[in-house]
Formats: sequence, structure tokens, C-alpha cells
Amino acid sequence: MTKILAINGSYRNGGITDQIVETMVKALDEAGAEVETIYLRNYPIEFCLNCRECTQKPGEAPGKCVHDDGMQMLIEKIEQADGYIFASPTNFGSVTAIFKRFMERLVVYGYWPWGTNSPKDRKENTSKKKAIVISSCAAPGIMGRFLFSTHKQLKMTAKTVGADTVGTLFTGLVSNEPHHKISHSVEKKAKQLVTKLM
Ligand SMILES: Cc1cc2nc3c(=O)[nH]c(=O)nc-3n(C[C@H](O)[C@H](O)[C@H](O)COP(=O)(O)O)c2cc1C
Repeated sequence: MTKILAINGSYRNGGITDQIVETMVKALDEAGAEVETIYLRNYPIEFCLNCRECTQKPGEAPGKCVHDDGMQMLIEKIEQADGYIFASPTNFGSVTAIFKRFMERLVVYGYWPWGTNSPKDRKENTSKKKAIVISSCAAPGIMGRFLFSTHKQLKMTAKTVGADTVGTLFTGLVSNEPHHKISHSVEKKAKQLVTKLM
């Protein structure tokens, strides 16, 4: 059975990100996948300390972080998944702070011993998994996708864990009312996109 892990960096219960991710999860479930959603707003993750303990030993497996928190379990889930949904609203031109905090903890996916200027991607030569990236913004979607860093950051997250981004859903003009409902066309696109993960 295909295992999909959805990581949701929205702060809002029932907001745009939740609606899109939940539409995808339902479609995946109906297609026979095993899906789990992690809501980062409820998940215990400490900030990266930039100590780079986790980056010193070579190998394809993620390094070991000095923190003892929810991230250990999350890394296991990431390793076991066949595909991913990475989702975050756009706040001040980037992913949310909770998504960024999660992203920085993915430094365990880099081999970066002291004395080298940049990390080597541990998953560089492994066979690629698949990821779909989701974001929303108040600006028109097309502007948001190309002007803001969100899309680039979500794709970087996918690459870091060894996945190619096979689909993007960037929804704009979401802030005209407090409880915006996703349109039928967004819902349709969300359902269509998940077939790329199966
Ligand atoms: C603190 C904050 C910063 C935001 N920054 C931007 C921004 O830079 N560009 C933009 O188009 N929308 C921005 N927005 C609008 C959000 O992207 C929008 O509310 C979000 O996509 C809704 O997602 P959610 O329903 O999952 O919360 C911002 C909203 C907040 C609250």
C-alpha cells in the first residue's frame, strides 16, 4: 500500500490549507493509499540549534539530532513514506514560522562535516520519491507563486528528504473573507493532483 505523509504548516483550523490538504487526504484514502497528516501547529518540535552534531557522520540515513522531541518520530515517518504533501500558507513572503522551524530541523538530511563550506545532500543518489506542494496567499495565485519564496521553500523541503516535486497547487485571493471556502476548481485540481502520488 502506498504511504503518503502530509505535513501541514498552517496555524488555522479549517483554513484554506486545511481544506486543500483534507480534500487530498480524502481522495488518496479513496484511491487506497495509507495517509497520515501532521499538523505542525500541534506537533512538538524544538528550534534547530545550528550545532551540526547531526551532520558530521556520512551516510544516506538522516543524522541524529541532539534534541529529544517529536522530530525523531517525524523523521521516521518521513523515511517510511513513499510520497509527501508539503503545505504552508504564505506569510510575509515565505512559509510560516512553524513550517520553517520544521524545515531547519531537516538539516539531519545533510552531510556537512566541519571544514566544508556547504552540506552534501544525503539523499542525492537515492531513488526519488514524489511530493506535491501546496500554498495559498492573499495576492493572486500566479503572482504569489513567482514573487514569494514559499514555493521555492516547499520544493527545497521535498528535495531535502529525497523527493521530486511532481505537482503544485498555489491558491491566491484567499483573504477577502474570514472563512473562505475553496472553490470547486481548486477542489477539482486537488483531487486530480493526488493521482500523481499513486
Ligand atoms: C502574518 C501574515 C502574513 C501574511 N503575509 C502574506 C504575504 O506576504 N503575501 C500574501 O499574499 N498573503 C499574505 N498573508 C495572507 C495569507 O497567505 C493567507 O491568510 C493564508 O494563505 C491563509 O491560509 P490558512 O487559511 O491556511 O490560514 C499573510 C497573512 C498573515 C496573517
